[in-house]
Amino acid sequence: MSVVDEVEAKKNITLKQLQYLLDGNEAAYLKERALAVRREHYGNEVFIRGLIEFTNYCRNNCYYCGIRRDNQNVDRYRLSEGEIMECCTEGYRLGFRTFVLQGGEDGFFTDEKICHIVSSIKGSFPDCAVTLSIGEKTRESYKAFFEAGADRYLLRHETANAVHYQRLHPSDLSLDNRKECLNNLKDIGYQVGAGFMVGSPGQTIKTLYDDLQFLRELNPHMVGIGPFIPQHDTPFATEKAGTVDMTVTLLAVIRLLLPRVLLPATTALGTIDPVGREKGLMAGANVVMPNLSPKRVREKYALYDKKICTGEEAAECIECLKRRVSKIGCSVVCDRGDYR
Ligand code: SAM
Ligand code: FES
Repeated sequence: MSVVDEVEAKKNITLKQLQYLLDGNEAAYLKERALAVRREHYGNEVFIRGLIEFTNYCRNNCYYCGIRRDNQNVDRYRLSEGEIMECCTEGYRLGFRTFVLQGGEDGFFTDEKICHIVSSIKGSFPDCAVTLSIGEKTRESYKAFFEAGADRYLLRHETANAVHYQRLHPSDLSLDNRKECLNNLKDIGYQVGAGFMVGSPGQTIKTLYDDLQFLRELNPHMVGIGPFIPQHDTPFATEKAGTVDMTVTLLAVIRLLLPRVLLPATTALGTIDPVGREKGLMAGANVVMPNLSPKRVREKYALYDKKICTGEEAAECIECLKRRVSKIGCSVVCDRGDYR
């Protein structure tokens, strides 16, 4: 039996098998199987999520992140509730049925304000799903957002190895707390997304193995992985970026481990390779998250250097994406795109 067949059959992977696949062995067959498994559950449909990056203020200081607190060169902005609603209106017109509100951990947006925004979106667009991605909060806050109508929550675990976690974050953040947040979110009833950066400084085959085992245990509805890309004003400015091959291999492995998972081909993957997102979709990914933020703020949400689509209107982005997706035999659907 090939290693790919074994991983697919057992929905598990050993450290040795992971090394073997990351070395490029059975690469074509791995992608072929991942694609077949994706098709089995989701056909050739690609789900879109409209990403609204509503604040780049953040109280955290993650070493990898361009909008970290200590970066003085960020032109900080916040969108008003009215501006967020305008993004949703335009998004709805373009066919989006999921809105992802993402931002730094910004104290200006109190629980009350977030709840108000979520319930306004759900009130105006009842057939849409709302995803939050606003970092670590208390169980009570998560519960309040859920009761206000939030359906999903994205909180990447970043790395499941505690030593590696401290290499990526200052000591006020911990893996234990991150895990507790994810467990709380799941327990409350959200569709939950975890994930990590590929090629982050200090990542090893062992930490990646820990990531995959953690994902198997958590069994999230979504997994967001994309290459680490250095940002010039961060402590990791001179570190190496993650690679396309490694990201694509890991996407395919994750599809075999968690066959039904919602798996985005990320903007970061499209940034390091002009056809990176297509490569991701051909290796088992089934989600893309075009930017719905107003054009004037896009460049300011600079998590990493040379981020794509910073100069385009949402409508241009979606048209371009539809063309690209159809070229690889898939189609963008106008659907909430829930976990099946
Ligand atoms: N504040 C929220 C949080 O921490 O979950 C959401 C925003 S945070 C910027 C979203 C994700 O961006 C992080 O989970 C991280 O994996 C990714 N990210 C940050 N800096 C990055 C970089 N330099 N390269 C690639 N991805 C990065
Ligand atoms: Fe807070 Fe990146 S450090 S969003």
